[in-house]
Amino acid sequence: MLPYEKYLQEVLIDEPTLQARVAALGAEISRDYADCGDLLLLCILKGGIMFLADLTRHINVPHEIDFLAVSSYGRGVRSSSGNVRIDMDLSENITGRHILIIEDIIDSGHTLRFVMDVLQTRQPASIKLCTLLDKASMRSVEIPVDYRGFEIENKFVFGYGLDLDEKYRNLPFIGVVKTDMIVHD
Ligand code: IMP
Ligand code: MG
Repeated sequence: MLPYEKYLQEVLIDEPTLQARVAALGAEISRDYADCGDLLLLCILKGGIMFLADLTRHINVPHEIDFLAVSSYGRGVRSSSGNVRIDMDLSENITGRHILIIEDIIDSGHTLRFVMDVLQTRQPASIKLCTLLDKASMRSVEIPVDYRGFEIENKFVFGYGLDLDEKYRNLPFIGVVKTDMIVHD
């Protein structure tokens, strides 16, 4: 039995399904930004890394990448408290630039609300949002989602960038955590 298997209830989105959707999103983004000229993919760390790494290879318009690390206070299974802070800021100046945020999952929306408010103060030309997963039914603050990989139910998931207590981000699929294995803050 592999170490992650004791936490896995079921595979929610398998690798081929993920990869096909990421390719489709990349094609859509490439069409939409064909005439943009100055696209910056802004990956939210840590969860967005796998998605960014695969997505960027399906975007065929010139673009740059940058990273913003945010976390919520405390280290538990979710960050819905609204207590979000920046752990590592961007390296680029984004004023006047076209920003596409790359995020792993939106739950309550607090993390993205915080990120978007911070970025807006730097006056980019545009900000759009691309999330792999969307727990739309859990939203407590409104977030405009421009590109969405999959809408999912309110289950705690891990793999493909998403962690289970900081581990298993490397799994190539999205799995549902067994409910009796979820550690709360
Ligand atoms: P929000 O601030 O409630 O929208 O939560 C967003 C953040 O919580 C994400 O960026 C993840 O880091 C984390 N998160 C929410 N749901 C899950 C999940 O099911 N698995 C792993 N992380 C999650
Ligand atoms: Mg995240």
